[in-house]
Amino acid sequence: MPDAQHTGVEDGVGLTALMVAAARAIETHRPDALASDTYAEHFVRAAEASAAWPVRPAEVPDGDANPLWGRLGRYFGLRTRVLDDFLIRSAHAGVRQVVLLGAGLDMRAFRLDWPPGQVVYEIDRDGVLAFKRDVLDGLALIPAATRCPIAADLRDTWVRSLVSAGFDLTAPTAWLAEGLLLYLPSAAERRLIETVDRLSADGSALAFEVKLGTESPEVRANPVYAATRQQIGVDLLALFDREPRPDSVGSLRARGWSTAIHTPFDFARQHGRGPLPEPNDALASNRWVFATKRGTRERSTSDHRAATENDRHSQGAVPRGEPTGAAVSRASGRRA
Ligand SMILES: C[S@@+](CC[C@H](N)C(=O)[O-])C[C@H]1O[C@@H](n2cnc3c(N)ncnc32)[C@H](O)[C@@H]1O
Repeated sequence: MPDAQHTGVEDGVGLTALMVAAARAIETHRPDALASDTYAEHFVRAAEASAAWPVRPAEVPDGDANPLWGRLGRYFGLRTRVLDDFLIRSAHAGVRQVVLLGAGLDMRAFRLDWPPGQVVYEIDRDGVLAFKRDVLDGLALIPAATRCPIAADLRDTWVRSLVSAGFDLTAPTAWLAEGLLLYLPSAAERRLIETVDRLSADGSALAFEVKLGTESPEVRANPVYAATRQQIGVDLLALFDREPRPDSVGSLRARGWSTAIHTPFDFARQHGRGPLPEPNDALASNRWVFATKRGTRERSTSDHRAATENDRHSQGAVPRGEPTGAAVSRASGRRA
């Protein structure tokens, strides 16, 4: 959980934004890249803490065998691609406002091919956004959408800042919480989901990443955690919130959202790249959830049947590593 004293990008959970940026930089230069973020390396180079981290596959010690920049890096590359596709699909469906919760060094406002009129709100802590602003000032880039950074702690109130920045309460929104909820206390996650629901007009969509439950000692001993600690000084196990996780999927469904839950492996198989299950896998409990607000109309019998079917896949009931089958969303095939 982020500490009030550590709100910058170079310490605490802020460093994870640099870690993901480095992984995106490396992914960009792979011959079989799933996503492209040519800006990411500028952030990594600009921060003292990360200036010496790799930003090219050739710079990674042990290459793909490196547990951090190899397998976990590929996970971040896959996640970037899948969530790029989610946002672009929403935009093609007519959703003109995106809110990135815990945006970090996300450059989607610049690198995705948005339709005219698109607005991207980026919420993160002030220290992270100040660093991002300083680096961007030096690059003099023009975003492909209207970009609105909003400094806020997502454990506190942030709605007024979002609305003051121009967020339209009557229009549908595509929300994204990528690599955020793992670090939030349960009560903050619960409040966040309630708030997203409250601010979401019909037709809104939300994608987020969660971990199911607490990892066993065997999983916590997975080399990826030691590699991340030793190579870049990020202790993920200490940063993950330890409280029992709330049932955010159940909470959304109770509020009328439809949900699809996937393992990252579903998408690795779909793309033919990315991590596949391994023993004592630190990714085995990761789930990517896609939710859509269906509105308040009366449900038909077939909706009820679909909802009951979905019950079997609700959070906590998904067998680890088992694909959720028909609900797998199709990637648009578009590359940034
Ligand atoms: C792993 S990074 C992910 C960044 C970005 N979503 C991405 O995937 O590149 C986690 C981000 O969540 C932000 N974060 C964590 N706790 C937060 C909080 N309470 N309020 C706002 N942002 C928070 C961190 O500052 C960091 O930028």
